Amino acid sequence: MGKNVILIGFMGTGKSSVGIRMAQRLHYQFVDMDREIERLTGMSVADIFRRCGETRFRSEEKLLARKLAGRSNLVIATGGGTVLQPENIDVLEENGVVICLEAAPEDILQRVSRKKGTRPLIKKGLELHELEEMLGQRAGYYQRAPYHIYTSGRGLEAVVQEIMDILRDENIVPVRPVATD
Ligand code: S3P
Repeated sequence: MGKNVILIGFMGTGKSSVGIRMAQRLHYQFVDMDREIERLTGMSVADIFRRCGETRFRSEEKLLARKLAGRSNLVIATGGGTVLQPENIDVLEENGVVICLEAAPEDILQRVSRKKGTRPLIKKGLELHELEEMLGQRAGYYQRAPYHIYTSGRGLEAVVQEIMDILRDENIVPVRPVATD
């Protein structure tokens, strides 16, 4: 059974887009933790925060992290705050490799501002310095990943290829050669 690939990183760093493509390349199943929590609770992430509070969302994240750690052959896109409870990453890491995606704050701001209302921690009119402050507060949590991949100014395929090369070179998961026809 293949180790899971766990993508961590701040909101808007590309975890879901990269994860979907990685899963295709590895012939793994893709799990987006936010979408899975929405499916399990029958509420959108924004609604969980609004109606039940962040604590409820964080406990859903914790339950799901434990559940996913018991499975294999998954590419998991975590939520940007999954790392805030370090035990989530501890448990996921038992059966997986953790990769952190990073991006320039300017890019993150642009990406998160596009999908207004879907991210409860991004308030309307968020300014760059406020975002940088959030990034600073979380930096230590993201630091624990053994691999860090920069996504700004790069195409999806280049980012995915860099991760595939790491997985292959470090013998983390078996990587099939890409068909060239
Ligand atoms: C959060 C990030 C979001 C989502 C929730 C909280 C965070 O996920 O889990 O809004 O605390 O950073 P994305 O990183 O997929 O936007």
